Amino acid sequence: MSKLYINGGKRLSGEVTVQGAKNSALPILAATVLCDGESVIHNCPKLSDVTASVRILEHLGCICKREGDTLIVDSRNISCFDIPDSLMREMRSSIVLLGAISARMGRAKLCSPGGCELGPRPIDLHVSALKKLGLIIDESYGCLDCKTNDCLKGTEIHLAFPSVGATENIILAAATAKGRTVIHNAAREPEICDLQNFINSAGGCVCGAGTGTVVIDGVSKLHGAEHTVIPDRIVAATYLAAAAMTRGKILLKNIEQPHLISVLTYFSEMGCVLQVKNKSVLLEAPQKLSRFFEIQTMVYPGFPTDAGPILVAMATLSNGSSMFVENIFENRYNYVGELRRLGAKIKLADRVAVIDGVERLSGARVDSTDLRGGAALVLAGLAADGLTVVDKIHHIDRGYENIENVLTNLGADIVRKEV
Ligand code: UD1
Repeated sequence: MSKLYINGGKRLSGEVTVQGAKNSALPILAATVLCDGESVIHNCPKLSDVTASVRILEHLGCICKREGDTLIVDSRNISCFDIPDSLMREMRSSIVLLGAISARMGRAKLCSPGGCELGPRPIDLHVSALKKLGLIIDESYGCLDCKTNDCLKGTEIHLAFPSVGATENIILAAATAKGRTVIHNAAREPEICDLQNFINSAGGCVCGAGTGTVVIDGVSKLHGAEHTVIPDRIVAATYLAAAAMTRGKILLKNIEQPHLISVLTYFSEMGCVLQVKNKSVLLEAPQKLSRFFEIQTMVYPGFPTDAGPILVAMATLSNGSSMFVENIFENRYNYVGELRRLGAKIKLADRVAVIDGVERLSGARVDSTDLRGGAALVLAGLAADGLTVVDKIHHIDRGYENIENVLTNLGADIVRKEV
């Protein structure tokens, strides 16, 4: 078991080049299942979730090779259609493979991911949409056994909620279906656009990503493609917060400014000075952060649920009371109890957190509860007086590439120890 040991209180400054987005890389890796050829994915982050995806792809029959930041996937010889339970448990978002495997193999077998650290993760929207495309799904004991009679057929799908995962699964299933599929009330997240771009480079015909209506004209086959994954907007927000909470200064490179607007607004409100260019942002922190008035998580282009713990951590050291409302996931505040161990003052009522800023946090032993909650604890530890030990960091390794190296390069005193 690894832990992060952080001696807090160091002012962070320097440059960071933001890694590729986990939430783009995973659906794109799922899309390689559709390709009858070799795909070259640049800026593919080195994360445990990506490793878990690669293990699934290899189980299916793909040959995967990493060369630095590039992952090469040869999907010509896919021969399996199941995902063993052990691999499914390693990465809950592997449900996104359902559409791709069904489309490529005419069959798919996997166990549904069930609940997770953020609360229940239903897949009803995925299942009902795939059924509309013609997939026959037999659900028993939490497992899905799927087959197509002939092939998947394009159709009109109205999503009751613009689910990111369901939108991706439908696009993947429809890319090689017969005819046209139209998704109404589709998710508009940048990761959907990235998936569209990959599929189109591989010979697919998808348009409308980034709007509420996505149209997929099925093609008979996809070939391999070369693609660069977009930068990770949540990782970007995390490193900005590291500087903001330590009175620091940071230049972030490899960002997509439009993807970060909803988050940067609150960094400004909290007193950070930002110089934003299209591909970079320079942040200078104030001596004392101001509180934010109210943040509500929303679907894109609203404030992202994944950046919630990051802004809550910042508010713990602000000069007043901030209100945070989580609207996407039911159970996203598990990390709050751990932040309190460092001296944070946070009241919770259902989906609302009220954070009363304190003068200082003090180091403590804490457990990561989930990916972004774990990142929030690291941020608080960087700003706290004394030693913070963050345990259960496998959660953090799902989404942050070499977090301790990045922070050390910014001047943090942080080490990973195997204990
Ligand atoms: C969510 C985030 C996404 C983030 C990702 C990784 C939103 C809208 N989505 O995507 O930005 O990158 O987590 O942390 O912020 N739901 C159902 N039935 C379904 C599918 C979803 O009821 O079949 C509900 C979920 O319970 C949840 C909401 O819809 O309340 C959002 O789910 P969805 O967008 O699918 O989640 P992710 O794809 O995991």
